[in-house]
Amino acid sequence: MTKPAPHSATTGRPLVAHTPDELRGALSDAGSVALVPTMGALHGGHRSLMRLARDRADTVVVSVFVNPLQFGPDEDLDRYPRDLPGDTALCAEEGVDVVFAPAVETMYPLPQMVTVDAGAMGERLEGASRPGHFTGVLTVVAKLFHLVRPDLAVFGEKDAQQIALVRRMVADLDMPVEIAGVPVQRDPDGLASSSRNVYLSDAERASALSLSRALTAGRRAAADGPDAVRAAARAVLEEAAGAEPPVEPDYLALVDPATFAEAPADHEGEAVLAVAARVGTTRLIDNVSVTL
Ligand code: PAF
Repeated sequence: MTKPAPHSATTGRPLVAHTPDELRGALSDAGSVALVPTMGALHGGHRSLMRLARDRADTVVVSVFVNPLQFGPDEDLDRYPRDLPGDTALCAEEGVDVVFAPAVETMYPLPQMVTVDAGAMGERLEGASRPGHFTGVLTVVAKLFHLVRPDLAVFGEKDAQQIALVRRMVADLDMPVEIAGVPVQRDPDGLASSSRNVYLSDAERASALSLSRALTAGRRAAADGPDAVRAAARAVLEEAAGAEPPVEPDYLALVDPATFAEAPADHEGEAVLAVAARVGTTRLIDNVSVTL
């Protein structure tokens, strides 16, 4: 079968669809489809997701939707950065075919009554700090899968718990889509790429670097076991708590990647060392994998 030319190859611009009907039109005769779900404010980390999608599918769709269902009442929904023209320009550079940017009323025409329950894994770490967050994430991801019907969906591993839960949803609910993860992308100073980095002042950014330093210190202690990994990472965070501006840790955990439950002292094999902390008013997360 002849592979259809990507839309961006013939027009130089992705087609921007705002409604399910426009999306369906854009995806007629699309061949294999890869979806990169995002909340916009796209950065270098998103580029790496798009590149994997571009390599793997005939048609690449990037969704840009700041999903109210995954934000708590005191979180940054209102100030979350939004820049559809900038996002569309970045997608054009990456050869994306379709940008799906629905309005909130389009995604949620009725108050959402039926949702996807993330189970016990969704209540740990991020889920404990942000009650309901993963129900919101899985519900919107399931809706996007139904609207776009991708063969492949690409997620960043910076949100390690999110991608683990998406994989589990796909397995548990028999969703016909392959999930691919892309390793955490870091700026040259080590800070994990995130749309929320734009909130940081220079001084806050300098303090925020302690997150990746803590993870590196933890990983270096892997040969001495889980408790040593936690202690090495904690020591860096404790020092950063006294920095100016201070880093206020939310959690630091070494967890089993299949469940996100704490790895026991005799854990062997792969684990995830994950951290969340607030610097000023910005909440940041990061993680590394550790082999024990
Ligand atoms: O990772 C994100 O940007 C969001 O949680 C996602 C997967 C796009 C769902 O809103």
